[in-house]
Amino acid sequence: MTEFFNGLVLGIETSCDETSASLIRGHTILTNVIASQVDMHKKWGGIVPEAAARAHVEAILPVIIEALDGNKPDAISVTCQPGLVGALSVGVTAAKSLALAWKVPFLGVHHIEGHILSVFANDEEPAYPQVCLVASGGHTEVVWVQEPCNYRILGQTIDDAAGEAFDKSARLLGLGYPGGKAIQEYATHGNPSRYSLPRGLPKDPYNFSFSGLKTAMLRLVETEGNSINVNDASASLQQAIVDSLVKKTLYALDESGAKGLALVGGVAANNLLRLTLQEQCTRRNVQFCTPAYELCTDNAAMIALAGSIRLANGERSDFELDCAPNGSLPAPID
Ligand code: KG4
Ligand code: ZN
Repeated sequence: MTEFFNGLVLGIETSCDETSASLIRGHTILTNVIASQVDMHKKWGGIVPEAAARAHVEAILPVIIEALDGNKPDAISVTCQPGLVGALSVGVTAAKSLALAWKVPFLGVHHIEGHILSVFANDEEPAYPQVCLVASGGHTEVVWVQEPCNYRILGQTIDDAAGEAFDKSARLLGLGYPGGKAIQEYATHGNPSRYSLPRGLPKDPYNFSFSGLKTAMLRLVETEGNSINVNDASASLQQAIVDSLVKKTLYALDESGAKGLALVGGVAANNLLRLTLQEQCTRRNVQFCTPAYELCTDNAAMIALAGSIRLANGERSDFELDCAPNGSLPAPID
């Protein structure tokens, strides 16, 4: 059984366009407050880092106060990388200040580790070793998870992330930002074989490429003009992205002999992807786990969960903790 920190853990997440704070005990989520900046960034069709940082400064204390709900935490976990540095530093500064005031330990955690360990919010304990597909707006990676905190990247995108492919194509189709959810909705009424779109890197068993898809969508929009069928274009795009993700994830799963498959990150909210992987796992008698929809996209509960497992292991940050725009997943603990 995976150990969690003994006490209340406050999680703080500000790496991108969501200001979030969460309070957990063990693996139970007591609160998970998310203030989204999506409406503000919609105006520009994407994230403006300076505006994001300012919005985090305005939201961070009200969000933390709401998440605490009158409680004082026993430890704090905060995202310190990767992400927008201006945005990350708002959360990290808040965590340090509160840790200093309350004299409680705090820990900086990796955002992607938060996504990977978000499956601990489920009732069923995840099975390890596990193959984990992390698909979000900034990342697309297939990770070998020997056990929590012990990771090896098996494959990743060589250009755009899967979420980026959804978002950029949605913009081309005039569906707004962020695009994944909108594409999924239009796709429900569309024919996935109407438009032929590429599946990137067909001969590479592990790595992904989504930039060709974006170019193909641009050409499609240019050649079809007003006669484009948005439902069919959405369904064809969704099918192309899901096909690539599923093919390489299943290859990794079959080669590795893992006991479980996890699907995490914002794109994990996609129903076609969830259902396809679930079905393939059932056929293979492999455990499939994916978080509830609200824990797929960025949130502080996953940061609290990841921090709690590491805090239980005795890890602590000091006041020198810095933020980083990138950085690989932490190396295994000896
Ligand atoms: O994990 P996340 O909130 O942020 C990053 O860490 O990047 O992921 C956001 C991404 C966006 O690209 C969004 O379009 C995508 O997740 N997304 C979806 C769906 N819901 C969100 N993509 C496909 N289908 C969905 N239902
Ligand atoms: Zn994320």
